[in-house]
Amino acid sequence: MVKKIGILTSGGDAPGMNAAVIGAIKAGCALNKDMYVVYDGYKGLITNNFKKVDSKFIEEKMNVGGTAIKTARLPEFKEESVRAKAVEALKNEGVEALIVIGGDGSYMGAKKLTEMGINCIGIPGTIDNDIASSDYTVGFDTALNTVVEAIDRVRETMTSHNRCGIIEIMGNHCPDLTIFAGLATNADEIFTVDHPLEDKAALYERMNKAYDEGRDSFIILVAEKLLNTKELEKDLNENTKWEARATVLGHIQRGGKPTAMERVNAFRMGAYAVSLLDEGIGGVCVGLHENKLVYTDIYDALKLERDKHLEFYKLHDLVK
Ligand code: ADP
Ligand code: F6P
Repeated sequence: MVKKIGILTSGGDAPGMNAAVIGAIKAGCALNKDMYVVYDGYKGLITNNFKKVDSKFIEEKMNVGGTAIKTARLPEFKEESVRAKAVEALKNEGVEALIVIGGDGSYMGAKKLTEMGINCIGIPGTIDNDIASSDYTVGFDTALNTVVEAIDRVRETMTSHNRCGIIEIMGNHCPDLTIFAGLATNADEIFTVDHPLEDKAALYERMNKAYDEGRDSFIILVAEKLLNTKELEKDLNENTKWEARATVLGHIQRGGKPTAMERVNAFRMGAYAVSLLDEGIGGVCVGLHENKLVYTDIYDALKLERDKHLEFYKLHDLVK
């Protein structure tokens, strides 16, 4: 039976990662496991930056965004020789299992480590909500609330000046933050990979109609990596009756106090990951499906197609 379990956070940080770490450590200590934290993601395995902790470790950070055990990107981890060093470091310490909190890239590392003898469990941790094996990723709820608050603020200033606000939202090719926020803020237009801006002339027409009807603001949400929002701002200033201003929300979306749901779900996933390792299960990732904890083989999970939430665009048409 596994005795020593490591835990790390990898890829982009996300609010709620601390709660997942706390959940795993408390559950592990309750089962008399030796719990280790690895700093700086996979990098900490190569630099031997890990240590044994007790059940109280970072418990005061439940309400703090980011990740207290740090994160990093280590592209070299794709090389087997680099992963072999990580396996050796863990084995020298007698650590046989690892919980990896991160996105799909981190999951690949976890799967490969499992194949090399370290039983790994992935926990979906990213603001992007782009892990298809879970209805929800740790960080998404908080980031969504941050985005919604930012849009509301932009709407207030745009309304005061009778302007158009273009807002670029993170997601790394996954439109969930944009489409969920669009519905929550009654945005006027939403452009994502599943709902791109194909006909600029039609957009100009819709905007001018809204202007003529006396609308006092026009909010356009754009998922990042889709189009250049500065160029769109110029186009709209030149071709419509609106004065447009573009805002890139940027990393403000990644920080912030995790919401209550984030903390609860992350804590549950952390504790669940330990219970799976205790049963001898590895090479899987955990998730929430219809509010129940589930686990899926990592390779199967990476092959799943994400939910495009196409019904959200239809609903949005109702409020336009
Ligand atoms: P995320 O986990 O948020 O998707 P990344 O794609 O940046 O973020 O991946 C995080 C880390 O996971 C990378 O820096 C690398 O160390 C590791 N990783 C990513 N892809 C692989 C892979 N194919 N094999 C092994 N490790 C990987
Ligand atoms: O994956 C989380 C995320 O914030 C994406 O939404 C964004 O594209 C990316 O990370 C930004 O990465 P970085 O912090 O390296 O600029």
